[in-house]
Amino acid sequence: MYVLGIESSCDETAVAVVRRGERDAVLAEAIKSQDEQHAPYGGIVPEIAARTHVEVIDRLCRQALEQSGIDIRELGLLAVTQGPGLVGSLLVGLSFAKGLSLAHRLPLVPVDHVAAHIEAPFITRPGIAYPLLALVVSGGHTSLFYQEAKFVGRLVAKTRDDAAGEVMDKIAKHFGLGYPGGPLLDSLYSKGVPGRFRFSSPRMSDGGDDFSFSGYKSAALRLARELDMSPGSTDFHDLLASFLNALVEYLVGKTIAVTRALPVRSLIVSGGVSRNALLRRRFGEACATLALPLYLPEPRYCTDNAAMIAWLGHEKYRAFPNLDYFDLSGNGYSRAPFRESKRHR
Ligand code: KG4
Ligand code: ZN
Repeated sequence: MYVLGIESSCDETAVAVVRRGERDAVLAEAIKSQDEQHAPYGGIVPEIAARTHVEVIDRLCRQALEQSGIDIRELGLLAVTQGPGLVGSLLVGLSFAKGLSLAHRLPLVPVDHVAAHIEAPFITRPGIAYPLLALVVSGGHTSLFYQEAKFVGRLVAKTRDDAAGEVMDKIAKHFGLGYPGGPLLDSLYSKGVPGRFRFSSPRMSDGGDDFSFSGYKSAALRLARELDMSPGSTDFHDLLASFLNALVEYLVGKTIAVTRALPVRSLIVSGGVSRNALLRRRFGEACATLALPLYLPEPRYCTDNAAMIAWLGHEKYRAFPNLDYFDLSGNGYSRAPFRESKRHR
C-alpha cells in the first residue's frame, strides 16, 4: 500500500510517500525547513510558521508525488499530524489532508507527533523488541515513554519546564549564534573543553523521574557574566562544550536509571536532539555497557519529517481497522498517543 504522510506541527512542512507491505520503503520526501524565516527572531514565530505552511504545502505535496513516481489515484492511505504542536501550523496540514481525503476518497489517519518520533527508528529497523523505553528529546518535548506494545504504554517522565532542545535554542539566541541552537552547539562542541565547567543536575523535590532544564540555562548565563564571552574566546567555547556535555550526561543518566527499574528490552532515543553527535555517542557507550539494544533514527528522521507520520499512520490503520477514517471529526481523532498501560512501579 502507498501512504502519503503530511507533517506541519511546528516549523517544518513535510510530505512523504512511503510503501508499506512486503517491500517497505520511503519512496519520496519533500521538506521545507523554515529556519531562515525564524532565525532573525531566535525562535519560532507561530504566525510566520502557519503562513509559510500555507505557501508551500501544495507544492511539496506535488513534488513528493512526482518524485515517488506514484499517481495520486494509486494511494491507499493518507496520514497527518493531528498534534501536539502550534495550532495554526497544525490546522494547515490537517485542512490540506482533509481536502485530499474528501477529493480522492482516501482514508485519513490522524497521527500523534510524539508517537511518530518514537516510530522513526522502525523505518530502518523493523524488528525492535518490546517492551521498550523511548526518550523523545526535541525542541518541544523531553519525555520518557514506556511501551509494552506499539499502541500500549505510558508516560514515565517529562520535563517540568523547558525541553532540552529549547534550552539549547535559548542559549544560542542569548549569545547571538543563530537558530536553531542545537546544531550550532553540536558543531562548536569540539572547539571547547567539556569538563572545564561543572553543572549540578537538578533533583525533583518529590523524588520523581521528571526532567528540568531551566537550571542549566540559568547556570550557563550566570557563568557567562563572569567570563570572557567574546565569540571565539577559549572561555566561550569551553562554556558551550561544558553546557552541552552536562545536558547530555543528565539525559543519559536519568534515562539509563529508568531502564534499570523497568523490564526494558530496547531503548529508543528520538526527536531533533537525537541528531546530536555527542548524545548519540554517549547513549551508544552506556547501552553497550548494559548490553541493551539502542535504536536511534537515521539523522534525517530525528528532526520533524513526514516519513515517520506516514509510517505510524499505516501501523495505526492496520492496528485499528474499525475506526472510521472518513469521518473527519470522529473517533479517529482521539488525542492519546497510546492506550494507557498499568504501572510497574
Ligand atoms: O524534533 P524537532 O525537529 O522538532 C520538535 O518536535 O520540537 O526538534 C527540533 C529541536 C531544536 O530544538 C533543535 O535545536 C534540536 O532539535 N536539534 C539539535 C540538533 N539538531 C536539531 N540539537 C542538538 N544537536 C543537533 N545536531
Ligand atoms: Zn518533533
